[in-house]
Amino acid sequence: MTTYHHDDETMLRWGHSWKEEDRVADYVERMDSRDAERQDVFRLLAQLVPAERGAPIRILDVGSGYGPVAAACLDAFPNATAVGLDVSDAMMEAGRPRMARFGDRFAYIHGDFADGALPPQAVAAGPFDLVVSARAIHHLPANLMARLYGEVYAALNQGGAFFNLDTASPETPFLHDLMRSVRRSEGEPRPERAERTPEQAAHDAMHHHRDATLARHLEWLRAAGFAHADCFWKRLSTALIGGYKEA
Ligand SMILES: C[S@@+](CC[C@H](N)C(=O)[O-])C[C@H]1O[C@@H](n2cnc3c(N)ncnc32)[C@H](O)[C@@H]1O
Repeated sequence: MTTYHHDDETMLRWGHSWKEEDRVADYVERMDSRDAERQDVFRLLAQLVPAERGAPIRILDVGSGYGPVAAACLDAFPNATAVGLDVSDAMMEAGRPRMARFGDRFAYIHGDFADGALPPQAVAAGPFDLVVSARAIHHLPANLMARLYGEVYAALNQGGAFFNLDTASPETPFLHDLMRSVRRSEGEPRPERAERTPEQAAHDAMHHHRDATLARHLEWLRAAGFAHADCFWKRLSTALIGGYKEA
């Protein structure tokens, strides 16, 4: 059984446990084993972007990790450029060799969105035609997710779009247990809880908040200003949601 150690106070900021090298290595290996399934959803995401394939669009990937979403968008839009925002050096180290094939079409930006704000260095790299994110924004508590959606809207050009492939919490405890048992029967690892201080355990429990349902994500998108906010794909509690900033 793998045990991850949190020995840095800063790990208590939302999402910062991804600075742990062992956790990153396990994650990248697990996602590589599911790559075909993920690519299907990324292809759908790219089809929803309101731009010609040859357009030189500017992309921001929030919580880019090893870069899979940015890579899929750069493949779909051969004249696009992208920046990947992340706080984890270990993730960016894992991503650099994978993203090297894009040359100067891709760059990482080291920065933190734990307060629900896009860091100034990410805003300065825009404005963007497309903002994407996968499995990253759920690290925030609900009020900060809603805030971040507003920040993303502000960083987009008119006519731009935002897509987030992430957790949409089931509406009822029955659905929560049902979906979790299906995911575990399909091999999802149980979260490790060993070696946690009480503060870290409380932080982890917050991470698994249940108020970020699909309905609320869509509410937050609309409140941020997005038009045509919708869920474009969903499997169990993973949903591809997004919206458009009207031209
Ligand atoms: C589960 S990984 C997802 C990586 C990639 N988007 C994917 O779909 O495989 C979550 C990523 O979000 C980043 N992240 C989490 N919280 C963050 C924060 N507060 N600021 C910046 N990056 C953050 C982590 O470092 C990690 O790389």
